Amino acid sequence: MSNETNDAGKVDRIGSYDVIFVGTPIWWGTMAAPVKSFLSEYELSGKTIVPFVTHAGSGLGRSASDIAALCPHSIILDGLAVWGTNAKTAQNEVSAWVRRLRIRE
Ligand SMILES: Cc1cc2nc3c(=O)[nH]c(=O)nc-3n(C[C@H](O)[C@H](O)[C@H](O)COP(=O)(O)O)c2cc1C
Repeated sequence: MSNETNDAGKVDRIGSYDVIFVGTPIWWGTMAAPVKSFLSEYELSGKTIVPFVTHAGSGLGRSASDIAALCPHSIILDGLAVWGTNAKTAQNEVSAWVRRLRIRE
């Protein structure tokens, strides 16, 4: 458990985060069910959500549009899709994507 979660596994002070990177494997063409639960549980209006996924052929699939539907008052940035089999060697791809996002403090 990280410092950002409490004993119940909930994120403390989600209100203090403006940008939330949401990572998920693609299951049945979209985000994994626990990630869907996570996004449903928190008030994310006005926040920026940055999806990144691993997959076995679907790419982002419907994940970005499904996130947008679940979080209609959030800003969804361009997501990154990495083949699960390539995840361990995707560091350069991830770095280039983060730079393209141009997120500033
Ligand atoms: C229940 C389940 C459903 C999945 N559905 C998809 C899918 O629709 N499209 C896809 O590209 N990969 C699908 N996958 C593969 C996962 O996305 C992949 O296993 C995950 O990203 C991790 O990659 P790895 O298994 O190579 O480590 C599915 C995996 C599981 C367990």
